[in-house]
Amino acid sequence: MRFTDTLPTPPAEALAHSAQLAERIRNAIERNGGNIPFREFMQMALYEPGLGYYVAGLRKIGKEGDFITAPEISSLFSQCLANQCAQVLTELGGGDILELGAGSGVMAADILARLESLACLPEHYYILDLSPELRDRQRQTLQTNVPHLLERVVWLDALPAEPMRGVIVGNEVLDAMPVELFTLVNGERIIRQVEIQGDGFGLVEVAGDYTSEFNPNLPGWLGSMADVLKAGILLLIDYGYEQADYYHPDRSQGTLICHYQHRVHNNPLWYPGLQDITASVDFTAVAEAGADNGLELAGYTTQAAFLASSGLEELFMTALNTYPANQYKLAQQVRTLSLPSEMGDRFKVIALSKGFTPDLVGFRLADQRHRL
Ligand SMILES: C[S@@+](CC[C@H](N)C(=O)[O-])C[C@H]1O[C@@H](n2cnc3c(N)ncnc32)[C@H](O)[C@@H]1O
Repeated sequence: MRFTDTLPTPPAEALAHSAQLAERIRNAIERNGGNIPFREFMQMALYEPGLGYYVAGLRKIGKEGDFITAPEISSLFSQCLANQCAQVLTELGGGDILELGAGSGVMAADILARLESLACLPEHYYILDLSPELRDRQRQTLQTNVPHLLERVVWLDALPAEPMRGVIVGNEVLDAMPVELFTLVNGERIIRQVEIQGDGFGLVEVAGDYTSEFNPNLPGWLGSMADVLKAGILLLIDYGYEQADYYHPDRSQGTLICHYQHRVHNNPLWYPGLQDITASVDFTAVAEAGADNGLELAGYTTQAAFLASSGLEELFMTALNTYPANQYKLAQQVRTLSLPSEMGDRFKVIALSKGFTPDLVGFRLADQRHRL
């Protein structure tokens, strides 16, 4: 991943796609009297039906896409998550898993394979994504990797109508939710607006030197998670900080970043629809919104500590014994997932529970709930 000021010119087909989405955004701005809140721009750039970054057919995740995620790096990651799921399913005497934003489907396949080896399969493995176009890719991955378990997988168009017992899991879902951008002016949060500037878009100028963001949908979203979960946990993995760190005076430009073909930059208004736009997660806000909705904070720690607590070393040794020729590759995967300079510290894991009180295995070695 490289930080850059210059981006390659997208191919003609991509430019035409972006122009179509830009036209829709321009119409929304005009309808709204000359500007729209940044959150609405981000919502359209990522999720506008048929055109948004996540809902149009472009390949985003993986080597040939724009960014790579932990389940794509190593199945050891998903196997650790499966170990945590196994504890919950065992304590509950069975149940279901619901994965939010399932990407290529590889995490679902690896979790199911591991749970099968532990004789702890969920009754159903539900998948809900705002990007229905990913379904074919997910089905293909599951068909190739775990064809005999495909019958347990159910794709949903909306959250289950009946509350479920088990685990709701989402890797890098929170960071893909639209955020409100604000600038502090005399201590007051001024919500930033996007306007048409020349052929593109710009932010309406505001005089202030501290800009950041927040996710206004978090309380509502956690409310719907609480409604869906009868008993079990919600397990979320993402990059982010505790609130004091998130809004640290030194972080005066916020956390918004964009990914295009493994390059990172900070202009979210560039070619809408072609790039990922993402903000780090304020985990204190997640815990608070969870508590307001009756979800108890059951664990919070770094990805490195969660993986170590969930049996990473043992899984690594098993993989080494099974595939000795992959020694270097496997060691490299563990380093990427765990080193503080890679994903180990920047990514956190939070668990919120309902009707489920046992201590969670994934937070055994280092529970940092007190930091939130
Ligand atoms: C960065 S991708 C991560 C994909 C996958 N979990 C992985 O780790 O490779 C974020 C995904 O979350 C989905 N998403 C965002 N908000 C969501 C929501 N409220 N419910 C379900 N999926 C959502 C997006 O459509 C996108 O597919």
